[in-house]
Amino acid sequence: MSQLAGKIAFITGGSRGIGRATALLFAENGADIAFNHFEDDAEAEKVAEAIRAMGRRAFHASCDMGADAPVIEAFVAAATEALGAPDILFNNAGINIRHPFGEYSQAEYERVMNVHARGMFLMAQAVYPGMVARGAGRIINVASQIALKGAPMVVPYAMAKAAIVGMTRALAYEATPKGVLVNAVAPGPIVTDMTAQRPREWHEAMEKNLPMGRLGQPIDIAYTALLLAGPGGSFYCGATLSPNGGDVMH
Ligand code: NAI
Repeated sequence: MSQLAGKIAFITGGSRGIGRATALLFAENGADIAFNHFEDDAEAEKVAEAIRAMGRRAFHASCDMGADAPVIEAFVAAATEALGAPDILFNNAGINIRHPFGEYSQAEYERVMNVHARGMFLMAQAVYPGMVARGAGRIINVASQIALKGAPMVVPYAMAKAAIVGMTRALAYEATPKGVLVNAVAPGPIVTDMTAQRPREWHEAMEKNLPMGRLGQPIDIAYTALLLAGPGGSFYCGATLSPNGGDVMH
């Protein structure tokens, strides 16, 4: 279990859910981890403690991924000073706001788009020059199967996640010749705080309809992230891998 020995990984949204599972799996595989999160400092500190207990270095800071470039650049600068420059970026932080299309306010639309599409763009931009200068790097963006199949009540979320798939493919053209591999993960429904807000009937319907017969766990996505971050990811280019229990087959 040392696929990432000696590597430094930056993870956005590492305090809970998919980001936490990925931070712990990457650390288990030998990486030092810097992660951000939004406000939930106590949960974040527990993740950092678990990483340190594995003998790896950890840094975390609250940083709003919906903020302007200087805020995101300040996180990257602080994380780099603490641990060193990143070999891997797991661009994961996200939120969801559910409303019928006609009830979405402009502010809510902008918040969802900013945290996902703009935040991931700015985060990738902040680490990219260093990766290019070193001639190596992995950028893994977290999209969603909703970018591929749609869903009601989440139009801005679906738009943002489709934008992330587009960014992944377009950036892969530029970055791959420079040694930086860019790919995406598009999870299906995963048991995290994000889906905990859904009613019991939704969970039951998902379990009934998914060929896999269960929702995913954060670790299911972390293993895909590990594949893309490690030696197994060396020939993926602009791909969107979709661990989704059969929700979308493609
Ligand atoms: P979660 O709610 O369990 O965790 C979200 C993480 O992002 C936390 O660490 C939180 O502090 C951080 N975060 C939230 N807003 C932030 C902000 N403005 N700035 C910085 N950090 C912020 O969510 P989950 O489910 O782990 O989601 C992670 C990613 O996976 C998101 O991009 C989400 O859209 C995506 N995803 C989740 C699915 C699911 O079923 N849970 C399905 C498909 C995609």
